Amino acid sequence: MSQPDRLWINVTLFDGLSAAAEPMAVAVKNGLIERVCPMSELPAAERAGEIIDAQGRVLTPGLVDCHTHLVFGGSRAGEFEARLEGKSYEEIARAGGGIISTVRATRAASEDELYQAALPRLEALMAEGVTTVEIKSGYGLTVEDELKMLRVARRLGRERPVRVVTTLLGAHALPPEYKDDADGYIELVCNRMIPAAAAEGLADGVDVFCEGIGFSVAQCQRVYAAAKAHGLAIKGHTEQLSNLGGSAAAARAGALSVDHIEYLDEAGVQALAEAGTVATLLPGAFYILRETQVPPVELLRRHGVPMALATDANPGTSPIFSLRLMLNMACTLFRLTPQEALSGVTAHGAQALGLQQQIGRIAPGLRADLCLWNTSNPAELAYSVGLPTLNQRMVAGEPA
Ligand code: NIG
Ligand code: FE
Repeated sequence: MSQPDRLWINVTLFDGLSAAAEPMAVAVKNGLIERVCPMSELPAAERAGEIIDAQGRVLTPGLVDCHTHLVFGGSRAGEFEARLEGKSYEEIARAGGGIISTVRATRAASEDELYQAALPRLEALMAEGVTTVEIKSGYGLTVEDELKMLRVARRLGRERPVRVVTTLLGAHALPPEYKDDADGYIELVCNRMIPAAAAEGLADGVDVFCEGIGFSVAQCQRVYAAAKAHGLAIKGHTEQLSNLGGSAAAARAGALSVDHIEYLDEAGVQALAEAGTVATLLPGAFYILRETQVPPVELLRRHGVPMALATDANPGTSPIFSLRLMLNMACTLFRLTPQEALSGVTAHGAQALGLQQQIGRIAPGLRADLCLWNTSNPAELAYSVGLPTLNQRMVAGEPA
């Protein structure tokens, strides 16, 4: 075997799915993981290139935040205060606040202003080990404003060492111009937004908000059909506040993931299992909205549905720019094991983006996006908030 560019030795490995029982070595060449083996099996000849002695530290795949709304204008701190005074998220939305207030601020912002505002949010995630992040549009709600948001997301990925996956969320909320014409707006999403985003290469996928305060299952199905026709991946915000059957409909349409899913029932879980759709858990929104209905974690386990975990970073329901905090919240609020939570931000987060052949695990042939942590126990990453710290963040085999 040829010599690696970099070799980590004495690593405590969490490979994205499980932790190794003995000290491991990981070799990287040309930006890819070349070899993963126990220290006892490491050929002497391979001890070349740059050698990094991890001294028992934990090495994980670079973290994947598979669901964010990082690009937006304005702030919703006032809404946070209103909720503390007793108003509900739905009441605020129906009164023209909520998502629509962010839409006003996002439309008013220039592309550069949106970029400058999003940068520190992205950098906060990166500082905690995120190497891949999905970013949704959904606060523009016109063809031009949605494309503007997606361009900002693409620019973030060009200007920082992080992979950005973009998702068109035109069907996020009904804009005031279409107040009594939800079907007309869905037509705009299907016939204008999706084709334009696809033609300009600005979107990797399409998402919807399937909910009483969002769009009906039938409307979402129209969006999925348009997405498919343009070769774009499908995702859904489903069963967050009620059970409409949106997750099963998304799964049948071939969705990569359905997200939130607090109100998902067993038939819905079965539909995910049959379709191979990932269930993305978003404890930040659950926590901020002080929800009490927890997602059906035990059913997901029983049916073998992979669980991803993400920040849902957004100005309304999850103004939280910390994927590490989500590891802890997934365990404390949803009773995931630390290992399940870690898989949620690595292997299963990658699968929720359709990137499982490229990232999310430490295995030969995958991209060498890696995080070395100042602990020797992977569970510490979910157990403690603030510590342990990141020792090294690598993107395609290079420190970044
Ligand atoms: O994922 N559920 C809908 N969309 C976002 C909330 C967006 C907002 O309130 O601005 C979510 O929770
Ligand atoms: Fe969301």
